[in-house]
Amino acid sequence: MSNQLDKVKELIALREQARLGGGERRIESQHKKGKYTARERIAMLLDEGSFEEIDMFVRHRSTNFGIDKESYLGDGIVTGSGTIEGRLVYVYAQDFTVFGGSLSEMLASKICKIMDQAMKMGAPVIGINDSGGARIQEGVNALAGYAEIFQRNILASGVVPQISGIFGPCAGGSVYSPALTDFNIMTKGTSYMFLTGPKVVKTVTGEDVTQEQLGGASVHSTKSGVAQFAVDSEEEGLTLIRKLLSYMPQNNMEEAPQFECSDPIDRLEDGLNEIIPDSANKSYDMYEVIGAIVDNGEFLEVHKDYAQNIIVGFARFNGQSVGLVANQPKVMAGCLDSNASRKAARFVRFCDAFNIPLVTLVDVPGFLPGTGQEYNGVILHGAKLLYAYGEATVPKVTVTLRKSYGGAYCVMSSKHLRGDVNYAWPTAEIAVMGPSGAVEIIFAKEVAGSEDPKATALQKEEEYRKAFANPYMAAKYGYIDDVIEPRNTRFRIIRALQQLQTKKLSNPAKKHDNLPL
Ligand code: HXC
Repeated sequence: MSNQLDKVKELIALREQARLGGGERRIESQHKKGKYTARERIAMLLDEGSFEEIDMFVRHRSTNFGIDKESYLGDGIVTGSGTIEGRLVYVYAQDFTVFGGSLSEMLASKICKIMDQAMKMGAPVIGINDSGGARIQEGVNALAGYAEIFQRNILASGVVPQISGIFGPCAGGSVYSPALTDFNIMTKGTSYMFLTGPKVVKTVTGEDVTQEQLGGASVHSTKSGVAQFAVDSEEEGLTLIRKLLSYMPQNNMEEAPQFECSDPIDRLEDGLNEIIPDSANKSYDMYEVIGAIVDNGEFLEVHKDYAQNIIVGFARFNGQSVGLVANQPKVMAGCLDSNASRKAARFVRFCDAFNIPLVTLVDVPGFLPGTGQEYNGVILHGAKLLYAYGEATVPKVTVTLRKSYGGAYCVMSSKHLRGDVNYAWPTAEIAVMGPSGAVEIIFAKEVAGSEDPKATALQKEEEYRKAFANPYMAAKYGYIDDVIEPRNTRFRIIRALQQLQTKKLSNPAKKHDNLPL
């Protein structure tokens, strides 16, 4: 056999060895935990046969604690590029079978290399996390590696979409890279994220908590808001990543892909003409409105289980991707609070960064009052949403369905925050506050001094309702462009989006803004 053939054989053998990561025993243990390996995950994520792996021959170069005697090809991470629905993406998946996927200097350099490449090509980065954190034997070199990744996450933010799957442990410094990316998807039961684990928590605060209670998928998708999605399986998580990307452009200089639309653009939804209850205190389900107006009723909701008083997610109108934001009257009457404001602000900013038009459906009685909210900084959090809408330069189409009171009127993509097309249903009520609150303040003396205060209050409320609880006062001043028939909402939104396709608007030049944090 020729010398060259021997070398080719050696290469093939090395590749085989690399594909085994930390070895058969550890792969088996990974499967027993209900988890896939890094390579299996990448294969499921990308278009079949599209993966181009790089840095398969990288090894760590640490010598502390005898670790030089144990080294693996690829050093605990699989990196490279591939396609999703034919579009280029860069991907990394931490390999738990090698030192528990812990982050070494060389492992970090592999992540940094594909992130640099993604920035040059203008392509999304997808990271699958499954790691025991900083590789303890490497000391400060592991910390340096983390910081190098964070720096790249920061520079890539708003330039290329960044999506993190958390399919296993993600503790300590590991959590900050996902936190800096646009979307976090956690698997229920097998993933957790926390800064310090249960043992440290017990020592410092005396609390007894399990990993799941401290940072499981349900915690982060419902309580903290760290994860936008909690999924039942890795398969579901990987399919979700593919679907999410279909709504996004490759980078901030491009538009999201345009899809064929099989749903008639002028589809009338008669049910919408009757969806608003007669009593202002009764609710209806905003999901019904969303389902009725978007293409084929398809809505990819983001942060479904967190701050449910506001709904955000992706949909299409006539095949065009939009970011949809809607108050949910069924939860806390749809009022805005700190968490809802932060949730929607982050989503609005993502859409604006990636040229995805915003469609906003308004039914909001105002901000939630009380010490709980004020002490929690609702002023600042509410300002985030205000800021996000005000700075957004993408096309903004707003439909006010019912209530739009007080500061929440200003915030929810109003004309004054450069809303491009603002419609209202005839059921809209646009005013400083609701009738009963207003009467208590401006007619307090009159009501108290009357023979029958209750009847007087009701009469004053009726007067106020007639004067303000309608869309025509706002329309009179041009703050509402048109009052539309509810059943025609889909068509009117599509026409507005078509009109806005050539929109050009930019903000004043600045180093960066000073978003209220
Ligand atoms: C080196 C590690 C490691 C680490 C795990 N391993 N974590 N090696 N550095 N951080 C190795 C284990 O020695 C073991 O090797 C293999 O990975 C699998 O680990 P197990 O413990 O057997 O797995 P499991 O029981 O599933 O537990 C997983 C785990 C646990 C919960 C993640 O390994 C763990 O607690 N690891 C340490 C977590 C941690 O404290 N990390 C440092 C965080 S501080 P063998 O050879 O047996 O297969 C941090 C600071 C960074 O990250 C700050 C940056 C800003």
